Amino acid sequence: MKVIGFSAGSVGREGNVDRMVKAILEKSGHEMEFVKLTDLSFSGCKGCVQLCAKPQVCKLDDEVQPYYDKIKEADAVVIGTPVYFGTVTSTVWAFVERFFGYRHVDIPIENKPFVTVVGGAMALDNAVKQMNDLLGSFNVNVIDTVTFASKVPPCFKCGRHKECEIGGLYKMLGDAAKEMTIKKEMFTRWEDNSAAAAAVDGAAEKLRAI
Ligand SMILES: Cc1cc2nc3c(=O)[nH]c(=O)nc-3n(C[C@H](O)[C@H](O)[C@H](O)COP(=O)(O)O)c2cc1C
Repeated sequence: MKVIGFSAGSVGREGNVDRMVKAILEKSGHEMEFVKLTDLSFSGCKGCVQLCAKPQVCKLDDEVQPYYDKIKEADAVVIGTPVYFGTVTSTVWAFVERFFGYRHVDIPIENKPFVTVVGGAMALDNAVKQMNDLLGSFNVNVIDTVTFASKVPPCFKCGRHKECEIGGLYKMLGDAAKEMTIKKEMFTRWEDNSAAAAAVDGAAEKLRAI
C-alpha cells in the first residue's frame, strides 16, 4: 500500500498543515511520500485538453506534473491547505484543478480514498467546503477531513504588527495588538490540541484500514 500527501503550507517553515499531513501519512503505517506544494513551481490548468485526453493524466510539463501519475498509482491521497482569504489557497486549487487531466470518458481516480486537511487562524468551514466540493468533481472518496484553527494570524510572522490596523491580529485584538510581543509559545501547535490530535489519529486509522 502506498499513500501520497501534499501540503500547501507556507514556505520556509514546517507549519501545522504540513505537520498534520505528514503525521497522517506516517501514522497510516503504509509506504508514504510527502510533497510540499509551495516549494514547487507550477500553474493551474492551462486548458491544453488534447494533451491529457488520451493518457488521462495532466501532461503540462512543470514541477508537479510527475505527481499526477503518482496519484493514479497511490492507494490513497492526503491533501492539505491553509485558509487564505476565507477559502483554500490558490496553490492547492491550482494543483487540484489539474486533476482535470483524469476526467475524460471515465475517471481513473474515481472512488480513490482521500483525506483532506485544512488549517487556518479562525474560520475554516468555507475552505473545507471548497476543498471537498472541488474534489467532488473527480468522484474521489473523501473518507475524512481534519481541521485545526491555530488562532495564529500571519501578523505573528510579518514583523509589523505594532504599526498595523488592517491585519488579522488588529481585527482580533484592536489596539492591544500593537502592544504585543510575539513569543514562540503563541504559535499554537496541533500536537498540543487534543481534538486535533484525535482527528489526525482518526484519519490515519481510516487509511490504515484500507
Ligand atoms: C495571504 C493570507 C491570507 C490568510 N487569510 C486567512 C483567512 O482568511 N482566515 C484564516 O483563518 N486564516 C487566514 N490566514 C492565516 C493562515 O491560514 C495561517 O497563517 C495558516 O493556517 C498557518 O498555517 P500553518 O500553521 O500550516 O503554516 C491567512 C494567511 C495568509 C498568508
